[in-house]
Amino acid sequence: MKGLITAGGRGTRMRPLTFSTNKHFIPLANRPLLFYAIEEMVKAGIKDIGINYNPGQLEEIKAVLGGGERWGAKFTYILQRRPLGLAHIIKVSRKFLGKERFVMHLGDNIFFPGIKSLVDEFRKNKRINALLVIIHHPENRRMGVPYFDKKGNLREVVEKPENPPHDWAVPGLYFFDHHALECFEGKGAISPSARGELEIVSVYNWLLNHGYKVAVKEFKGTWKDPGKFADWLTANQFLLDKLLEPKILSPVEETVQIEGRVRIGRQCQIENSLIRGPVIIGNRVRVKNSFIGPYSSIGDDCEIINAKIENSVLMEGVVVKNIPKPLDSCLIGKESVVEGNHHSLKTIGLFVGNQCVLKL
Ligand code: DAU
Repeated sequence: MKGLITAGGRGTRMRPLTFSTNKHFIPLANRPLLFYAIEEMVKAGIKDIGINYNPGQLEEIKAVLGGGERWGAKFTYILQRRPLGLAHIIKVSRKFLGKERFVMHLGDNIFFPGIKSLVDEFRKNKRINALLVIIHHPENRRMGVPYFDKKGNLREVVEKPENPPHDWAVPGLYFFDHHALECFEGKGAISPSARGELEIVSVYNWLLNHGYKVAVKEFKGTWKDPGKFADWLTANQFLLDKLLEPKILSPVEETVQIEGRVRIGRQCQIENSLIRGPVIIGNRVRVKNSFIGPYSSIGDDCEIINAKIENSVLMEGVVVKNIPKPLDSCLIGKESVVEGNHHSLKTIGLFVGNQCVLKL
């Protein structure tokens, strides 16, 4: 069985960060978002993985992921010239997929505690051509939604319906055999939706309409889709709660107080500060006269001096200095500098790019 992971798309909901970084590489609990999908696939025994990317992004993807060796996997990078939809990714991956059964995992979704049981089910049950994974979700109007007939059989799947009849929804995990690839060919081929995309739901509907067997299975774990800023912080909290393994890998002075589950990386310098977990701090981080509070993820090479930070994600190389008010619920991009006047915040000098969000 092969795997497909998405790493392209527009990334509009995570602007301004996505002007300069692929959304899938923004960290959660100090690891790029995409790592979670890769790890779950590999844990489920899928090592032959295709990853789609946008034009101009291959270099960054290769620099972060390599060829898959660190996971014992083999990655094939597949160019998607324009973000024309999730089914379009399957279309441009035809050569890679060949005749094999496959699972597609959206690179911005997290399935906890993993997808192995669903993968095993699809691997074993050769009588089905596709598997539709469903979950309960209160906001299913922004998702794919399954519709059932009176007997409870799957009738169709609708993308982002205005008035869903129940709270069932389709998360970003899709299973198909090679018959799915036929939906792009001939007279009855699927066509773009009103929003101009080849929708993944259309592939399921095509299979249903052509007599193929589509099974439905509920995913009973926790699903996260950190597509927007607020969801990012919630997902960061969730992962710190579930996955953080406390460990202190740098010498810590007596003037430092550590409470709760805290992980501190190598070569850090921490002085006169209080760190209250769950918190993860990367390598070569400097913290002085500061408070780092629950649900903070601090990337490598950050510097935090005279500041208070809580429930925030700081990417690599961020400097926060002399901010007397707490920084709470922030997502700060790589190498940004947030500097304040230690005595008052009455006047603030800022140099800010387009479409940034600042909460001071
Ligand atoms: O998250 C679950 C939902 O994902 C499903 O319920 C929907 O049925 C499905 O259409 C999808 O909806 P979204 O609107 O949330 O998808 P989004 O455009 O955010 O893209 C999801 C992932 O696919 C993300 O990793 C970006 C990538 N992508 C997206 C498109 C449209 C690509 O790589 N290429 C694309 O052309």
